[in-house]
Amino acid sequence: MTAVEKLETICWLGDAQGRLRLIDQTRLPETLEYRDCEDVESVWEAIKQLRVRGAPAIGIAAAYGVCLGLRTVKDADRTRFFERLREVTEYLAGSRPTAVNLFWALDRMGRRAETLRETAAPPEILAALLDEARAIHEEDRRMCHAIGRHGAALLGDQTGVLTHCNAGGLATAEYGTALSVFFTAQDEGKQLHVYVDETRPLLQGARLTAWELQQRGIDATLICDSMAAQVMRERRVQAVMTGADRIAANGDTANKIGTYSLAVLAAAHGIPFFVAAPTNTFDPQLPSGDAIPIEQRDPREITHGLGRQTAPDGIDVYNPAFDVTPAEYITAIITERGVIRPVSRETVASMLGEHRV
Ligand code: MRU
Repeated sequence: MTAVEKLETICWLGDAQGRLRLIDQTRLPETLEYRDCEDVESVWEAIKQLRVRGAPAIGIAAAYGVCLGLRTVKDADRTRFFERLREVTEYLAGSRPTAVNLFWALDRMGRRAETLRETAAPPEILAALLDEARAIHEEDRRMCHAIGRHGAALLGDQTGVLTHCNAGGLATAEYGTALSVFFTAQDEGKQLHVYVDETRPLLQGARLTAWELQQRGIDATLICDSMAAQVMRERRVQAVMTGADRIAANGDTANKIGTYSLAVLAAAHGIPFFVAAPTNTFDPQLPSGDAIPIEQRDPREITHGLGRQTAPDGIDVYNPAFDVTPAEYITAIITERGVIRPVSRETVASMLGEHRV
């Protein structure tokens, strides 16, 4: 077992009076620091500031955040308890708009509480909600491993793969989505070489993915985002693999800004473009990617992101954190249930079936 396998991106310490411990991802790769959250405000702040980030990890953290937010009313009457549940849910839902896993997890927590509304007292409901958050956490772990198994079958030996942002253990309960595919392929004895986009403006590729791959002993080369076309032209990569933040009913996929350009480039070079994501990253209510809300972030991430001012005062800045890759550019979507290929409204619906996870 390597060092990173022991790392817990998210962990709950104790019982319903316990606390949430997160790796503070803003501090990597210089230092591996943990941050304890004892109230819902600190969970909101951790999500907003990307201390915890990546679609599945945001959902898991929010589920535990609900428990922290409800602690203050565990001895209140049922009406107040449910009123507070609504407040806490709305508050956490306002932290980041794009990753649907956040809303999926909050919705699931709310539905669990509703099943107990008439029969249980607030302390019991709170205990059940902590169990629910733990279940979301554990299920994510299992889904990531399953995604790795399905995805590894798509990669041959001696493959060069390009990835973007961080869809690794840091973005999930463990192992990751896109990175899970690489870890599994390596465990199966395949030799991979991963090219890692640095992922401007916040450098999740350079800071987090490069770090995770190093920890696991996977051959990796860091490149600037703008080098992807040249890397493809030189035939250094035979596949592109990314994660996702929200996938619409027709397969259009929102992921970190820059993903769309990689998909177009991959098509131009005849290279398959794969998305790896659990089924709770799908939003079947949205007919297409046009309806996916795109987070706009602070201009200073671009003008002051590298520890110094890198643009003139007063320059206008556009800073969307995500883009949408149209389904036509996606060769396959790898889920924990299997591979969607080709990607269309029909194949997505048939994978999701009647129910969501
Ligand atoms: O802004 P971030 O760092 O939360 O963006 C994360 C991504 O875009 C990931 O690729 C995505 O959430 C998938 S994580 C398994």
